[in-house]
Amino acid sequence: MIRSVGPDVLALGAKLLAHGELVAFPTETVYGLGANGLDAGAVKKIYAAKGRPGDNPLILHFADVQAIESCAVMTPLARRLARAFMPGPLTLVLPALPCVPLQTRGGLDTVACRVPSSSVARQLLALVPFPLAAPSANTSGRPSPTDAATVQADLGEAAALIIDGGPCSLGLESTVVDATGALPVLLRPGGVTVEQLHELCGRVLFARGVDEARKSPGTRYRHYAPSVAVRLWRPGEEFPEEPFSFMGLAPAPACSREACVFDSLRDYAAGCYAALRRLERLGVLIVAQLPPDEGLGRALADRLRRSAGQE
Ligand code: TXA
Ligand code: MG
Repeated sequence: MIRSVGPDVLALGAKLLAHGELVAFPTETVYGLGANGLDAGAVKKIYAAKGRPGDNPLILHFADVQAIESCAVMTPLARRLARAFMPGPLTLVLPALPCVPLQTRGGLDTVACRVPSSSVARQLLALVPFPLAAPSANTSGRPSPTDAATVQADLGEAAALIIDGGPCSLGLESTVVDATGALPVLLRPGGVTVEQLHELCGRVLFARGVDEARKSPGTRYRHYAPSVAVRLWRPGEEFPEEPFSFMGLAPAPACSREACVFDSLRDYAAGCYAALRRLERLGVLIVAQLPPDEGLGRALADRLRRSAGQE
């Protein structure tokens, strides 16, 4: 059931969540498929609905930074990062407290914590006395949903309620940072950029350089994949001979069958998942412009590489 956001719909969402049901809701990044993160039975429903591997842990969403302390240890680094970037598109991996079920943390001794800035998400979180475990509200492996209709198309009736709060402003998932140590370890690039982390912390470590155990389990799986092949393209490179559609910064190449073009990197990031889903319907190769690995471009390039099957 899909409903436009309003006080009654938020109250219904909170009631369903308290009864262990799944409720999809918008955040500033992508739509999340929420459940009571402290209820192992409710969390199991998320894995089943998404077809998600059980060792890929979930993010707990909180109404405010203070609430994180009920589930995780705020390290000095975490406090600094939280002061600078929360609420916002940043997720901190922290030592978990025993109240967090193993299902939520995929069997790890850490738990991922985030305080979204989206007002709909925050209003919903304020109505429930527990954090919401919420992965992106897509079936596992597909591009993430940035509007409610896409959630409905992907998950159907698995969510008891889909709260429609319009399109997501950022359109790419949060930056995931391991904040258990003294320096931030980037596990997934996102809306908070490496440059911003660097400016605050002086140094940023990358998951590739740390041991396997600290890597983000989710990054091991194929992700963001449409039903047709995706080929990455940089300005100046040749276009393929075969029929293709194009997504990237304007202008569209004259030889593409159809194109999703954007005027800015920010718009491209916000629209990239919807573009993948729209263009796959043509059934031909998608040529996707790869932005440089800087600022928000790093997160967008990461998702495009994954949708193209490159790591
Ligand atoms: O923007 C977002 O973060 C969205 C919205 C809904 O908040 N959520 C989201 O969740 O992207 P999901 O489940 O699609 O991605 C969570 C990522 C995965 O890569 C997962 O492996 C990683 O966070 N993660 C979660 N818990 C972790 C942990 N304890 N240690 C390392 N990585 C963790
Ligand atoms: Mg996801």
